Amino acid sequence: VQTATSDQFLAGCKVVVTAGGTRERLDPVRYLTNDSSGKMGTALANVAAAAGAQVTLVTTAAQPVLPAVQQVAVASAAEMKAAVEAHFAAADIVIMAAAVADYRPAQAADHKLKKTGEAGMTLPLVQNPDILKALGAAKTHQFVAGFAAETDHVLANAAAKLARKHVDLLIANQVGAGRGFNADDNEVVLLWPDRAPQPLARASKLTLASQILRQIQEVRG
Ligand code: CTP
Ligand code: CA
Repeated sequence: VQTATSDQFLAGCKVVVTAGGTRERLDPVRYLTNDSSGKMGTALANVAAAAGAQVTLVTTAAQPVLPAVQQVAVASAAEMKAAVEAHFAAADIVIMAAAVADYRPAQAADHKLKKTGEAGMTLPLVQNPDILKALGAAKTHQFVAGFAAETDHVLANAAAKLARKHVDLLIANQVGAGRGFNADDNEVVLLWPDRAPQPLARASKLTLASQILRQIQEVRG
């Protein structure tokens, strides 16, 4: 793993990052998920570790990590929520880079679902809890950041999420047309509660991770 960081600007800091798309079980052989690769969250975890932080990466992905990164493997949004909340009290910085599924099947069947007849089927879904929103409501000393992957009205949608989830930083990125999910580079805008939006030029996810973490450290003071 190569990181763009050499100085220890996060020494002594406890960082929790989530990465990847959650997998929502339908039956023993099927699940619902999304196109997230986990690359952005893993880059944040690796850069933070290289910068001296104590890092916990709660992830659904199998991306390479530095030995210093403590990985917690999860699949579903419910598992991710439990793992993040277990590490929240001790954390200084929490970054939700995971693509959490908004919905999960209302029931996870114990046996493989069989098709019946020739008709289609309707799958009942229930909404997953919003992990980031819960962190935003519960935070005391923690700096809490989230991402917003949008195909349209990127800044307006992301600004609404910044306020609705009560977070300290919302990182907005346009997805679709080869951008965002599963790409090696990205282009984002940092939205802060009381600062002007800050565009970061297209760069590798590792470079952006370094810029984002440095900005967070600067704002935390
Ligand atoms: N998020 C979360 N828990 C959820 C859904 C999203 O913690 N159940 C987090 C994501 O990790 C991300 C941020 O919230 O950091 C924004 O996710 P996004 O999908 O863009 O926003 P939603 O609130 O789910 O709104 P929508 O998908 O309708 O745009
Ligand atoms: Ca969503």
